[in-house]
Amino acid sequence: MSKANGKGYGKVILFGEHFVVYGIPGIASGIDKFVDVTVENIKDKNDVIFDDTVFNEKVSLNEKPDHIKSKIFKAIFNPENKIIKEILEFNKIEFNNLKFTIKANFSAAKGLGYSGALAVAIIRSVNNLFELDLKDNHINELAYIAECVSHGTPSGIDNTCATYGTLVWFEKNMTGGPNTVKPFKCGKPLYLVLADTGIKHDTKESVANVRKRKEANESDYKKIFDKAKKLASKAKKELQYGAILEIGKLMNENQELLREIGVSCKEAEEIIKVCEYENSVAGKVTGAGDGGNVIILCENEKHQDKIIETIKRKNYEGIKIKIS
Ligand code: MEV
Repeated sequence: MSKANGKGYGKVILFGEHFVVYGIPGIASGIDKFVDVTVENIKDKNDVIFDDTVFNEKVSLNEKPDHIKSKIFKAIFNPENKIIKEILEFNKIEFNNLKFTIKANFSAAKGLGYSGALAVAIIRSVNNLFELDLKDNHINELAYIAECVSHGTPSGIDNTCATYGTLVWFEKNMTGGPNTVKPFKCGKPLYLVLADTGIKHDTKESVANVRKRKEANESDYKKIFDKAKKLASKAKKELQYGAILEIGKLMNENQELLREIGVSCKEAEEIIKVCEYENSVAGKVTGAGDGGNVIILCENEKHQDKIIETIKRKNYEGIKIKIS
């Protein structure tokens, strides 16, 4: 094969962003938005090229070894990685002479797991090109390595959603062992509007800032984290029942905790407020916060349309997503 394709899903976090970094359970889902990567063999060029149509840039690994995409590539396909080592033992291949073309139908730096989706798409494309037959758990493990390059201390929830694309209960293993990933189903579909604050954020920075605030105030943060833990367990049950109003109540409580750890912002609050006037069931920041996207829980598709119109009047863009 001289050309192959791979996809990674975007995600929304319904419960537990930031808290998951510290081993508190979270609930998130892959969404119908993805990064799409095509890889082709560029024989004898002795380089790896990224033609990134999202960021509108071409990057050569030889010329820019410290570019984030070069770093991610080198981290994933490092011959010292256990998974890569095994591949190289059994296959006569080289992770070189490759050109990646990157496309996506959602934006980066908006809380939707772009970097995790990109990592998964790159790995899947290489997996398909060389017919490596990597299992999802290995793809997820490799994508986590890329996430560590992008975000410093990620929980792993983003790459997990990017890999599996479904609703999952996620718990980071704080001792370095495998994380707990349990896919499950909603009793009833969730109709959400993804409302864009218009502000790009840096996940690494948001996570680092929460850490600083936590370290400066351990006793208050312990209380907040305990609440987040209880919330996640209750939320899983209510999601399985399909109890929309209860789910909404818990999402609002989660948003309150996100305010307390300082990751909401004026724009997110404005979106949540105007949607309340349109009888939104709930609204909360999703992902790292400090801008990015807000999720608004709606009753049905018609309600989603109404919410999108409402936020548009305040100059915010929204799209419909459904989680089941
Ligand atoms: C980012 O999408 C979610 C955070 O919880 C960071 C992480 O889990 O790695 C803020």
